[in-house]
Amino acid sequence: MRVGLLIIGAAALAAVVGCGGQRAEFKSREDLSDLIPEAQAHVRQVLDGDDEHVGHFGSPLNSIAWERLPVRFHGAVGVFAENAGDGSGALTKLKVTLAELNRPIEPGQELVWVSGKYVGQPSPHVVSYDSKTNTVEIKPAVSVPPDAGDRFAVAPGAVLKHGRMLYAEHCQHCHGVTGDGGGPTAKYLNPKPRDYRLGKFKFTSTATPARARREDLARIIEDGIPGTYMPSFKLLEPEESQAIVEYVRWLAMRGEIEFKLVQSLKNDYSIEAVESTIESARKADEGLSNSAAREQIIAEMQEYLAGDWLEEFNDDTKFQSEQWRNAEQPDAVVLPKVARVPDTPESRARGRKLYLGQRAKCATCHGESGLGDGSQTLAVQKNPMTNEDYDTPGLFDDWGNPLKPRNLTRGIYRGGRRPVDLYRRIHVGIKGTPMPAFGTVLKDEEIWDLVNYVTHVPFEARERRPGDGGAESGADAPKVAASKSGPSLQVAN
Ligand code: HEC
Ligand code: HEC
Repeated sequence: MRVGLLIIGAAALAAVVGCGGQRAEFKSREDLSDLIPEAQAHVRQVLDGDDEHVGHFGSPLNSIAWERLPVRFHGAVGVFAENAGDGSGALTKLKVTLAELNRPIEPGQELVWVSGKYVGQPSPHVVSYDSKTNTVEIKPAVSVPPDAGDRFAVAPGAVLKHGRMLYAEHCQHCHGVTGDGGGPTAKYLNPKPRDYRLGKFKFTSTATPARARREDLARIIEDGIPGTYMPSFKLLEPEESQAIVEYVRWLAMRGEIEFKLVQSLKNDYSIEAVESTIESARKADEGLSNSAAREQIIAEMQEYLAGDWLEEFNDDTKFQSEQWRNAEQPDAVVLPKVARVPDTPESRARGRKLYLGQRAKCATCHGESGLGDGSQTLAVQKNPMTNEDYDTPGLFDDWGNPLKPRNLTRGIYRGGRRPVDLYRRIHVGIKGTPMPAFGTVLKDEEIWDLVNYVTHVPFEARERRPGDGGAESGADAPKVAASKSGPSLQVAN
């Protein structure tokens, strides 16, 4: 397998864990413990590695860069140019082409060999970098130039380490060490902080299956999510925000792969499944001992892991990284093809008609008057992840949290309140939730009519219920900080 791996030693970070002096732990998924120990070991090995096997992610304190996945880990990344050196004597000056420049290249930074003949050799240090001639000067010298195309990284892991520190300080108490959305503050909040580990984000400018863009995540961090406890972090420097975004991506990609690993082994290699396989094998062959039957299953599992499973895993991770990469392409941004239809009473009336009609069925969720009380909120829904009915009526998101269609009379929009934000919500939907994508069902003009109607609903509501102040008071925005001892804090939908 030709995939670049790079271990980022981050011992210095051991001190920066948790908040308020509390040591938070990096935990595996709970459902990992449903698997037999051999299957669990496989999952851990793929993710973290052990002394013999290099894994793909490590843990936050010992992160591993998996080049297959698009995360910006390092200060800079590049390749050596043809004729990197002049070929005579010890070489200190090497010509390079940079692929990524996330931090300025400065004297004293480590340069690690990512591919080529010097991999595994001690790392030199940067003496200087000349951006005009694309020449990096290193110490100590090398005797033979690296080959053209050999890869290197400068300041390995610098971005991710920075992101990890900032995340621990600002985000972890809600989003959890693992990004599971289960930090100590989370239990007091509704809606819950996002669990990044499905790789899904709700408010993106891209359509499914493309993932969130870096810009989408940066915007959420900068603006927060109105009407929820997700705060805005306007005071972060751009470099800090960038580092956090990369760290959130790393957690999301690691989490998604962990989830898929567990899913792929759960059917056949959960403790329960293996027990029942042993039972039926012994019914078929009475002479078979328990341990012999078990050994046979383990042997089959190892064979599967080295064959079909590996192929599927490679395809899956390829697809996953493509979806993250695609999201970064300029054409992945969903933009209206026609200018906003003027916000006239006629346009709103057409929007209202669509809203109530059979094609868009908005009212079946959001209710005829937009209160979020449509008929679907009373029906029992199917879980799209398992295809089974939920135990209770109402809507749920892919994380299993119950959720209400937005109450449109309040005029609070989580994904942003600009007309283009609402256009995108209707066009691409809200990923990981039952709010559908209408981009293929409705024409752009129709979506604009709906935007014009939806943004008018709060005013209509006020006209209908004069004096109750419910529409635009802004009282829904959370004003109190989450308190550890207080009752569950509820944010209106
Ligand atoms: C006080 C708790 C809290 C803190 C602190 C917090 N968040 Fe959140 N965050 C939330 C909640 C709650 C949501 C979910 C809101 C929703 O579902 O509409 C969320 C959602 C998100 C999302 C998902 C956006 C999407 O489109 O799905 C991202 C990304 C995110 N937060 C990043 C961060 C980062 C990065 C930090 C630290 C810089 C941070 N959050 C700090 C509570 C918090
Ligand atoms: C199957 C149910 C369902 C249907 C149908 C539906 N929605 Fe939604 N909608 C939701 C849910 C659930 C949310 C909240 C999701 C969340 O934030 O987690 C939502 C959120 C929204 C939001 C809030 C966006 C934001 O940024 O906060 C708007 C606006 C919206 N829907 C408009 C519409 C319109 C217009 C239609 C019809 C074209 C429609 N919805 C159809 C379930 C639905």
